[in-house]
Amino acid sequence: MSKPQLLVTSALPYANGHIHLGHLVEYIQTDIWVRFQKLRGRRCIYICADDTHGTAIMIRARQEGVREEDLLARMHEAHTRDFAGFQIAFDHYGSTHCEENRQLCWEIWQSLRKAGMIYEEEVRQLYDAQAGTFLADRFVKGVCPNCRAPNQYGDSCDRCGHHYDPIDLIDPVSTLSGARPEVRTALHLFVDIEKQHAFLDQWTQNADHLQPEIANYLRGHFLGQPLRPWDVSRPAPYFGFEIPDSPGNYWYVWFDAPIGYMASTWQWCKKEGEDFDAWWASPDTHIYHFIGKDITYFHTLFWPAMLRVSRYQLPRRIQIHGFLTVNGEKMSKSKGTFILASTYLKYLDPAYLRYYYASKLTPRVDDLDLNFEDMAEKADADLVGKVVNLASRTARFVVSTGLASSWPDDGGLFAQTAADGIEIAEAYEACDFNRAMRLILAAADRANQYVERQEPWKLAKDPGQTEQLQKVCTVALNLFRQIAVYLAPVLPRLAEQTGRLLHRPIQHWDEAQKPLLGSPVRPFEHMLKRVDRQAISAMIDESRQPEEAVQASGSRTTVPSAKPVPAETAGAVTESGASVSSSPRWDDDEAALRAEPIAPQCTMEDFQKVDLRVARIVAAEDVPKAKKLLKLTLSLGGEHRRNVFAGVKGVYKPEELVGRLVILAANLAPRKMAFGTSEGMILAAGPGDGEIYLLSPDPGAKPGQRIH
Ligand code: 2FM
Ligand code: ZN
Repeated sequence: MSKPQLLVTSALPYANGHIHLGHLVEYIQTDIWVRFQKLRGRRCIYICADDTHGTAIMIRARQEGVREEDLLARMHEAHTRDFAGFQIAFDHYGSTHCEENRQLCWEIWQSLRKAGMIYEEEVRQLYDAQAGTFLADRFVKGVCPNCRAPNQYGDSCDRCGHHYDPIDLIDPVSTLSGARPEVRTALHLFVDIEKQHAFLDQWTQNADHLQPEIANYLRGHFLGQPLRPWDVSRPAPYFGFEIPDSPGNYWYVWFDAPIGYMASTWQWCKKEGEDFDAWWASPDTHIYHFIGKDITYFHTLFWPAMLRVSRYQLPRRIQIHGFLTVNGEKMSKSKGTFILASTYLKYLDPAYLRYYYASKLTPRVDDLDLNFEDMAEKADADLVGKVVNLASRTARFVVSTGLASSWPDDGGLFAQTAADGIEIAEAYEACDFNRAMRLILAAADRANQYVERQEPWKLAKDPGQTEQLQKVCTVALNLFRQIAVYLAPVLPRLAEQTGRLLHRPIQHWDEAQKPLLGSPVRPFEHMLKRVDRQAISAMIDESRQPEEAVQASGSRTTVPSAKPVPAETAGAVTESGASVSSSPRWDDDEAALRAEPIAPQCTMEDFQKVDLRVARIVAAEDVPKAKKLLKLTLSLGGEHRRNVFAGVKGVYKPEELVGRLVILAANLAPRKMAFGTSEGMILAAGPGDGEIYLLSPDPGAKPGQRIH
């Protein structure tokens, strides 16, 4: 068989959110790998597209009063601009909302039908009668049925981590209209993926296909038991493709999204005059998907099962990366670490981030931490100090003479770095970019030691040393060029600049094997400047918003869940702002007011006598002898602690309360009780007797702050 051609994809970003630094881990990782393959002379294409369907887009379009297509066109433009800014070089960037995708979905659907894998079942779901739509998990909020935390999404609780069905939420509220949703029954179509269990057992455990930790995870979490059927349709209204043999029902966004890899390839084929089947239906194509660990389930179980029954190729490998954290934490809007690609590009050179991510990426599924000071130090020390400096310190001495025409004695330095090419290439191939960067930097260190020893700046002052100067600079610039070749997948612009400097474009990996001789040298032009620390601060300031930490679409900040049908678009809803209605209609009755009428008027002065403070519960314990009391230790910041006895036993478990912010009436006279002294009171609503709701400030409030 001839050498296989490679078809490489990154996960398709949702069209309802902007690209941010979390997304870029994956696109930069994939782009480096693809550029490496191309530099090695492999036939390789890099395909991606916008993931356009689902409730979130539909709702957002409604709220903005535009057609979904208009919204998609706007986001497509923004996404392609952001990717280009980071030098992500797709061969084609399409959209899942296209005719090619509709056709392919229908074809694969028919194959699933033929394989007897589709069946129908009635599903009970929350329905917002006012918005006229069934509610995806992320469009409903309510009280957690497990720990009673308020304001939780329909799929899982942020406080206790419990997963539940949205219809089990207590007091559910639609985030679209504010209405109380009703439970309605609708027909759904399911894929009986269990039928492919034996195949998936074998496919997932083949070492070529998945990283070992992923194969183990699948074995431990899913494959040890029957695979739960996949609910693959949504009733109207839904923005997507209507299922031709089930009118009124639409394919769930996660059905058509991976097929979008194929559709986008098809569009590329049409553009380039290529044969689609020669790519997707030929064993000569090796398909590589790069994804984040949160979407493992779809890509390693559903997707292979769908492809297996079709006439198309299974992926050769699914390369999975971890999440991005910033300074060891989730990206946070309030801390300014939730940074959009476009904001970054306003302030900083993409080369810094490309190199930083490369230096941290390994073949493992580990999370990657971004620390801006660390990024700046690495860029300054490695790229400016060790790489670019090699050229800036030597090129000017040979502008008039060009490079020497025969190779001088360099003590074997060039040969050593040429030989390193094998190991560096192996590291790139295995996605061990961290190792590749370390090997390349070691070569840069050797080159710098050579320049330090030879001191060309001294030779330049001695007219008798012209020839020696040319030799030294010929060696130094060739060592520099080798490094630029090896770094080309990570720093394509540096490779172009090097090509211009030495009058020879870098087009192939093997150019690091043979020195350039007799070539003219252009005057050195600026290549990369040191990182401006003020620009980093300005970027963070611009990104800072009052919201608390968010999980944005594709931010890969959530752990994969064992739930078979995860939330529709996760945090994309939050990011798009689509979760807040502009004209909410609530159905609150007046029972509470009737039960407890409003107290007689008081003055502002009266009110201000009560000093209300934000406090954090740092310890909570049962008071065994009391029927209703828990003993809470509250922190007001620093060493300031208060003990308070609160009548919340039976409603809240002590362990659920620890860490929570509450409101403390802080200047109430201490009250002696049978079990100790209560030094204040925490605020709660509700009539009592099991119905008690503790009050909490919005995220971001700090213990000790006064409430005005
Ligand atoms: O998680 C996400 O961001 C999805 N939009 C990825 C889709 S990848 C593929 F299946 F299309
Ligand atoms: Zn809970």
